[in-house]
Amino acid sequence: ILVDHPIYHPIFIDAYRGNFSADQLRAGSVGATIAYALLLQKISSEIVLVDIVEETARGQVLDLSDAGFVTSARIRQGNFQEAGQCDIVIVTAGAKQKRNETRVELIERNYNILSSVISKMKPLNPNIILLIVANPVDVLTYIAQKLSGLPKNQVFGSGTFLDSARLRLELANILKVAENAIHAYVLGEHGDSQFVAWSAAHVGGKSLLDFPEMKAVDKENLAKEIARKAYEIINLKGSTYYGIAGCVSSLVQTIAFDQRHIRPLSVYVEEFQCVLSMPVVLGSSGVERIIDIYLSADEKARLQKSAAELSAICKKYA
Ligand code: 2OP
Repeated sequence: ILVDHPIYHPIFIDAYRGNFSADQLRAGSVGATIAYALLLQKISSEIVLVDIVEETARGQVLDLSDAGFVTSARIRQGNFQEAGQCDIVIVTAGAKQKRNETRVELIERNYNILSSVISKMKPLNPNIILLIVANPVDVLTYIAQKLSGLPKNQVFGSGTFLDSARLRLELANILKVAENAIHAYVLGEHGDSQFVAWSAAHVGGKSLLDFPEMKAVDKENLAKEIARKAYEIINLKGSTYYGIAGCVSSLVQTIAFDQRHIRPLSVYVEEFQCVLSMPVVLGSSGVERIIDIYLSADEKARLQKSAAELSAICKKYA
């Protein structure tokens, strides 16, 4: 069923082209796939795509516009100034991980790209929402909060929403229940120091760990597999984009419809003075509040470890 709705949120996707020739054929794949997901679901009335390589954006827009007939959604090419006036800006600009490279190893390259994107978009619409997707997403979100000068609730990152979706997929297969019946989060860094908040996880009002099926599961190993899934995909096909596009289009929908879903996103956490993923309430003005999730002593220690690693990097950009 297609529901037409009066949403007038133009959206800007920065499908930045990677720096490496081997990547060029896949240039802008995260941004373009997000645009594709938004078009097919008609989450936005208008999508504006910006890429520093004009032909890439033009090619993507021409191709994507052919899919627009499905929902009569519009997509066009734009510039950074126009992007700065949009309602929601999705920043996918950045080099992507090479095989076996960690996300934080991208920071030097992607810091320069992000700071140039933000300065070219200024002056920013004061109500704009900056949704950071490029990696390392936690550190880049921290930097975007600083460089944009916007209230912190309007600048956040996709964080461990994707890792949590990966976890829920595995749990759904184990428990044979729908993924959206599973309330379980991966928190901390969207990267190697992430952890699963097992003790707060529940399904149908029952603690996840009380399900008999969970007794046979090697939880440490499952958490490791979730954290390694992006590496596995990158090894097999060079990059990941469908999973993140599904997650980001769902976040945009939550914002556009003020749905107030709880999502694990990269947000500034006062206690640690850095950005990492915690469950938050997401609405039309961005992050409404952070949920003070119950964590066991071991999980708290993992959160602190993740925060310590991230804040060491964030401090360099303070
Ligand atoms: C992912 O987790 C690489 O961050 C990207 O798919």
